[in-house]
Amino acid sequence: MTDIIDFLLARRSVPVAMMEEPGPAPDQLRQILAVGARVPDHGKLAPWRFIVFKGDARLKFGECLAESFADENPKADRAQIDEERKRFARAPVVIAVVASPRAHIKIPEWEQLLSAGAVCQNILSVSLGLGFGAQWLTQWPAYSAGVSQHLNLGETEKVAGFIYIGTAGAIPGDRARPDLDGITEFWDAAGPTGD
Ligand SMILES: Cc1cc2nc3c(=O)[nH]c(=O)nc-3n(C[C@H](O)[C@H](O)[C@H](O)COP(=O)(O)O)c2cc1C
Repeated sequence: MTDIIDFLLARRSVPVAMMEEPGPAPDQLRQILAVGARVPDHGKLAPWRFIVFKGDARLKFGECLAESFADENPKADRAQIDEERKRFARAPVVIAVVASPRAHIKIPEWEQLLSAGAVCQNILSVSLGLGFGAQWLTQWPAYSAGVSQHLNLGETEKVAGFIYIGTAGAIPGDRARPDLDGITEFWDAAGPTGD
């Protein structure tokens, strides 16, 4: 168990700019998705799904990204639009985690969205655990009506994250982490500490 604690305490994302080939092999990708789907999920609704981009599909979908970007940024120049074509090709594999909340008598949408966040984190962690670099990004495509349409998202669906997975070409330094004491309060019998 120490191994997993050490892993969790040291893990960190690899920025997509540092990502190279290769990406996960098909059996590793399946393992990544299986771990992704093994998250707390109130009511067993599985309120999320995956769309995987790899190989030529990344540039194919790049056409959709470029089209949506051009529509939403009428002043964009040719170079910027061409850059968008390559957005998903920055890493060998991109997994779109789609939050698919459904109306439920007991389970609020909020909890279903939180579960989708847990899926993203699991995918990130298992990818890093397999020795890959990975990063959870949203960027403009997660909030674009045009991209949502190209992804065939339903009315209540949203992209919780695009998880980029590849091989780290460099080891990123750590980033500042929150001061635990600043974000933690303990209650005791007299109420919260600091009272
Ligand atoms: C929902 C969500 C969306 C994110 N979107 C972006 C993004 O669009 N661009 C970006 O630079 N970082 C984004 N990040 C931040 C990085 O994925 C990540 O938090 C950061 O690189 C540090 O991660 P680490 O704790 O794994 O090292 C996002 C994080 C979350 C949780």
